[in-house]
Amino acid sequence: MAGAPAFAQPSVVPVTVVGDAIPASLTGVPGDAARGRAIVTSRRSGLCLLCHAGPFPEERFQGTLGPDLRGVGARLSAAQLRLRVVDGRRLNPATTMPAYHRVDGLARVGNAWRGKPLLDAQAVEDVVALLATLTD
Ligand code: HEC
Repeated sequence: MAGAPAFAQPSVVPVTVVGDAIPASLTGVPGDAARGRAIVTSRRSGLCLLCHAGPFPEERFQGTLGPDLRGVGARLSAAQLRLRVVDGRRLNPATTMPAYHRVDGLARVGNAWRGKPLLDAQAVEDVVALLATLTD
């Protein structure tokens, strides 16, 4: 687009990984679990249910490639959940789960996504807030 600055995309926030977690919020703004739920169940942005099942009774089609998300908020801390959403390949380089907040190393993304993370920083926080509520 004429005049559009080349690097004005939602950018990837640098993260500090500690152990198997990212302790600090990416934005400093608390995540909104309701928005996180909308992202997780969305077939356009999150696509999480292609691979995961979870306590989302309104969603008929849920995946089995990844672990069931029921109880994940009890198994993992918010900091651990954050790293798994941002870039699970730091824990398992062979994982099929996309790195949702990373742009390099995405070999197969379409042009529309090139240079943009799949989820922006606040969306990551929203998803983490939702996952943290899944304690049963
Ligand atoms: C293409 C398949 C796929 C998609 C899409 C996907 N995941 Fe995953 N996810 C996995 C797999 C497989 C694992 C198991 C970890 C591994 O591979 O090492 C996993 C692990 C996880 C874990 C850790 C669960 C645990 O019990 O340890 C969380 C949390 C998670 N995913 C959340 C999400 C969320 C939220 C989304 C959407 C924003 C998502 N995933 C999208 C495949 C996927």
